Amino acid sequence: MPDTQRLAGIQIRRLWSTDRDAVVTLFRGLDPDSRFDRFMGTVSEAAAASYAAHAVSAEGMVFGAFAQGELQGIGELRPVGAAKEAEIAFAVAPGHRGRGLGAALGARLAQAARNGGTRRLHLRCLAGNRPMRALARRLGAELRPGRREVHAVLALSPPTLFSLWREGVEGAFDVAVAASAAWTVVPVV
Ligand SMILES: CC(C)(COP(=O)(O)OP(=O)(O)OC[C@H]1O[C@@H](n2cnc3c(N)ncnc32)[C@H](O)[C@@H]1OP(=O)(O)O)[C@@H](O)C(=O)NCCC(=O)NCCS
Repeated sequence: MPDTQRLAGIQIRRLWSTDRDAVVTLFRGLDPDSRFDRFMGTVSEAAAASYAAHAVSAEGMVFGAFAQGELQGIGELRPVGAAKEAEIAFAVAPGHRGRGLGAALGARLAQAARNGGTRRLHLRCLAGNRPMRALARRLGAELRPGRREVHAVLALSPPTLFSLWREGVEGAFDVAVAASAAWTVVPVV
């Protein structure tokens, strides 16, 4: 897996409610084909924006990829029915693909899931979604192809002291960066 910190100019951090508008803008910027790939079916821009408005506050965890301070990619981790299992999903802005944002988000999602006790990650995409299949392979997932969709499964090892420590350091950094981004300077008159 790639080291999320080594992508020049790219910052990966957890998203909070203060990032809601940026998430909506990102989903609004997806073209119809990207929405089709992300939601595995036809979804209007308004419906995608409505989904995005609740994405950060919904159950699970959401990470964002920032380039030049702008949110350009999102990776979602959602618990599924069975204990220790979760589903992941991605959306990267069309103009920022092929730069490793998806892979970096995937690595961070896998790290967070592993440290939270998840043992298997599931990822579903349309059979014709080559970038997503490549990303799943890059993350080390086992691909189970179906006629219409591919189900990828990524087995995670149990957390170690080091993986927990690293998650803690990155989590503290995430909070500091998100807080400073949300900070509004009120001029003194
Ligand atoms: C799938 C998606 C998230 C990939 O994001 P990305 O930032 O471009 O991914 P990366 O740059 O990290 O590349 C990941 C892999 O995909 C490959 N890839 C990227 N674009 C590709 C393309 N157009 N065709 C084939 N492979 C491609 C990369 O080479 C890389 O594989 P490698 O590690 O073997 O070289 C992005 O295309 C996207 O947002 N698509 C629309 C939404 C979607 O399909 N979501 C998936 C369902 S949840």
